[in-house]
Amino acid sequence: MRILGLETSCDETAISIIDATGDVSDTVTIKVMSNLIISQVKLHAKYGGVFPMLAKREHSKNLVPLLILSLNEAKLLEKRPSPLGLTKQVENKIRKILLKEPAMVEPVIELYKLYSPPKIDRIAVTYGPGLEPALWTAINLANVLKLIWGITVIPTNHMEGHIVSSILKRRADESLEISKINFPAIVLLISGGHTELILMSDFLKYKIIGQTRDDAVGEAFDKVARLLGLPYPGGPEISKLAEISRKEKLDIRFTFPRPMIASKDFDFSFSGLKTAVLYAIKKINSITPLIKKEASLEFENAVCDVLEKKTKDAVLFFNAKTIIVGGGVSANTEIRRRISGLNSEETPLQIFLPEMMFTTDNALMIATAGYLRSILSPSKFKKKITATGNLKL
Ligand code: KG4
Ligand code: ZN
Repeated sequence: MRILGLETSCDETAISIIDATGDVSDTVTIKVMSNLIISQVKLHAKYGGVFPMLAKREHSKNLVPLLILSLNEAKLLEKRPSPLGLTKQVENKIRKILLKEPAMVEPVIELYKLYSPPKIDRIAVTYGPGLEPALWTAINLANVLKLIWGITVIPTNHMEGHIVSSILKRRADESLEISKINFPAIVLLISGGHTELILMSDFLKYKIIGQTRDDAVGEAFDKVARLLGLPYPGGPEISKLAEISRKEKLDIRFTFPRPMIASKDFDFSFSGLKTAVLYAIKKINSITPLIKKEASLEFENAVCDVLEKKTKDAVLFFNAKTIIVGGGVSANTEIRRRISGLNSEETPLQIFLPEMMFTTDNALMIATAGYLRSILSPSKFKKKITATGNLKL
């Protein structure tokens, strides 16, 4: 099954085309025909965070050109022998679907007139969670492609995409396969908007067992980075400095709290930790490079202590055989080390961490999650897709 994945939940415009075959009871094989991303990170860095309307404008401008590149790379872009005439009726329908995306109207009309419908079976589009104005751009594109190409659209959850990214295994021939999972699994989802522990009893079967009561872990990294005068996005910056401090074996002058580490549940809280960093650096006259390194290490250690302890507790409580870590923060080296360390002789565990290139938002994960949905729950797709900022798994 050929699937076109569309992802615009935050500040990456991402499009991927896959050719997926097989079933989870046997082997799911994914041939990547194209996997492209346009990152807006430099644009938003100037403002220290993502501006939803600016993100939307960029997605709207970039989506159709990126789609053409992607179809071309997948060798699915075929010019019509002569341009197709556009009836007023079709034009009106296109304009109606793209009412909020004026920048996409002309490129979509061109696409319709000049190119034959590509040999694609499904479109998987992220409809949440994320920034709603941004989510709408890919949803509107999916709807207009459904109109002009007659392809079914699968609404896809971004966080399910992150989980799928973590269980992709690369084969010798560069294609990917979905790893065999020993269930139950504990999933630790950590991103700019999420910190969740999930009990996964089977493919696509989730129960949230704990979550953050305030800031998400990625958000805490970004906010602490800003306090330390580090550029956006702050996660990778803090991580870099913390790694240097570890190597240099620095004496750390700070002690930050490990919020909720002893609470008898699987919830998290990171806003107090951020405030502790704020108070600590307020007492200091100038934030020197040394202070930045020390604060980064102590902050990262505090976060990792809590994530490691809660994940371990969840594994023991639910007798889990597997840990899956997903989301942008799973790029963090220390978190990867700590979670990998939970696999021991006494408690042998399967550990899944995403390949570094799959830690960031991408559309390959959306296309693959869409494939799993279409083979495991084919009759459940909603006809009318609405951007849902706080969509749950
Ligand atoms: O999943 P993602 O790309 O976007 C959301 O869906 O939120 O996650 C982005 C988050 C940002 O907060 C970023 O600072 C954080 O992931 N991040 C990291 C690292 N790389 C990215 N946090 C800590 N260490 C890293 N190496
Ligand atoms: Zn994400």
